[in-house]
Amino acid sequence: MTQRLRLGVLASGGGTNLQAIIDRCQDHDFPAEIAVVIANNPDAGALERARQAGIPVRCINHRAFAGREAFDTALVAALREADVQLVVLAGFMRIITRVMLDAFPQRIINIHPALLPAFPGLHVQQQAIDYGARFSGCTVHFVDGGVDTGPIIIQAVVPVFPGDTADTLAARILEQEHKIYPRAIQLIAQGRVLVEGRAVTIDPPATPEIAAFINPSLHN
Ligand code: GAR
Repeated sequence: MTQRLRLGVLASGGGTNLQAIIDRCQDHDFPAEIAVVIANNPDAGALERARQAGIPVRCINHRAFAGREAFDTALVAALREADVQLVVLAGFMRIITRVMLDAFPQRIINIHPALLPAFPGLHVQQQAIDYGARFSGCTVHFVDGGVDTGPIIIQAVVPVFPGDTADTLAARILEQEHKIYPRAIQLIAQGRVLVEGRAVTIDPPATPEIAAFINPSLHN
């Protein structure tokens, strides 16, 4: 197979999205591989998942740095050292600065547990419930200078059910995150993702699987 795209995965937490990517990369036909996993928090479960899979890990604790730029400078150095071509934020709970954006222009992607542009920021499952939204979901997007504002690559729609809590909704969304994040990486690695301003084109196009979701149902 031709060269696989080298990923640098940044995580802060349990790392279930990292695990989904590790699992897909184990398939030799998958066009990407994880070169390094970096956590900003020494207790991140993601570090243990990476070690188990034999992937090089780095812990770069943001608390050891005077500011965001200094922290990002250390991230860039570690990513460059690992020859990373695409930076994958997987539950990485730090705001990225210009230092990272300039080092990896249009080469940083993020997954967010809501249907952007609705509900950027934090505690977004609770926000969707409190708002009374019938649907939420998840979004993989390129990272730009804003918070959860970059061009959208792929989304999955998830219904909100009566009686949902932030935890039940988060679990339903997470299941879809584990499908769309590896898919976004695959499309980028295959060179099928073209970005023009906010518009992301998949070439050749991959049509959506269904026409519409309706909640509540039209029928019962
Ligand atoms: C995921 O739901 C991800 O979308 C979210 O954190 C969770 C991490 O789970 N990310 C954000 O909220 C980013 N602002 P994981 O560690 O099990 O992959």
